[in-house]
Amino acid sequence: MYKKIVVVVLVLAMALSFMVACQAKEVETAEPAATTEATVEEAPAAGGLVGVLMPTKDLQRWNQDGDNMKSQLEAKGYTVDLQYANNDVATQVEQIENMITKGVNVLVIASIDGSALANVLEEAKAADILVIAYDRLIMDTANIDYYATFDNEMVGTIQGQYIVDTLGLADGNVGPFTMEIFVGSPDDNNAKLFNKGALDVLAPYIENGVLDVKSGEGKTNEEWTKIGILGWKSEDAQARMENLLTTYYSDENIDVVLSPNDSLAQGITAALIAAGYEPGSETKPFPVLTGQDCDVNSMKNILAGTQSMSIFKDTRDLAARTVTMVDQYLAGQTVETNATYNNNVFEVPSYLCTPVFADINNYKELLIDSGYYTEDQLQ
Ligand code: BGC
Repeated sequence: MYKKIVVVVLVLAMALSFMVACQAKEVETAEPAATTEATVEEAPAAGGLVGVLMPTKDLQRWNQDGDNMKSQLEAKGYTVDLQYANNDVATQVEQIENMITKGVNVLVIASIDGSALANVLEEAKAADILVIAYDRLIMDTANIDYYATFDNEMVGTIQGQYIVDTLGLADGNVGPFTMEIFVGSPDDNNAKLFNKGALDVLAPYIENGVLDVKSGEGKTNEEWTKIGILGWKSEDAQARMENLLTTYYSDENIDVVLSPNDSLAQGITAALIAAGYEPGSETKPFPVLTGQDCDVNSMKNILAGTQSMSIFKDTRDLAARTVTMVDQYLAGQTVETNATYNNNVFEVPSYLCTPVFADINNYKELLIDSGYYTEDQLQ
């Protein structure tokens, strides 16, 4: 075929040279996708088809994660199939199945339900596909290779420490301060770890009554699934906050809300505003309210005083780390890891990136100067 084209080119030199260029280019990009039976070991160091699966477009961070993964992989010569599953487990399983059929060399999966992928990943393993769990650990299977994430327990530790520091608890302020605890989705292993990190810091103050959880709900990490908000839904967090305020805070203000992320925090903020809480108010000042992701809406709330802090997990770094894992693996090099996470079957070699907190005092340096957002986006 190529020979034929060369002959034609010689005859129709000028007219067809453009066509040859396009053809050559097509072959170059199409080739990795077409090698359905290529095993991971045989795949080239750069180039290959990578399936990237994100849970939902609803939360800003996953859009950023998806975009970063796609652009960084493409910059290294990979072809990328990026899919979002609308937070629906069956859709995500189907997307994985389709990618296996298409002959991907690598699957990078941010799971919806970390325990629902064991069957489909058996197929992936049988097809010799490199499987990387992205941000969320995939549980109950031997058929994943690596896990790239942020230090999830540290996320909670930072949130808990932010509360301790803001209230001056370590300096002897004995309050008491009223507090409620929110937990993320029960099907997301991260939710458990965020909660553990925060409660480990806050437990002594809960135990000695300096922090008074009036509902009594979620005071220990063992209870994390009981009050978890399925699918991390803002509206469900809002409904729970409304209930808590009506039931326990009709005579007394709430001083602190531990929220593991921004989608929950935004629902909590809406409930607090509806109940008359206002930043700087003498009678109903806004409580200390934590979050995570530095979602644009939450950053706006932080600037307005209706959320106190968020955790900044630079999705550019996580994407870069994941791309490095893919590169190293396909090049037959040692894949760099710095931790292990137990997924109920084995200790999954993992790489943990470091989270930091962002609030009104440091957001410029962290988010604007680093080019993550422009000042305009946060207006
Ligand atoms: C992620 C958080 C995110 C949450 C909801 C967690 O697994 O680590 O960054 O806020 O899911 O999407």
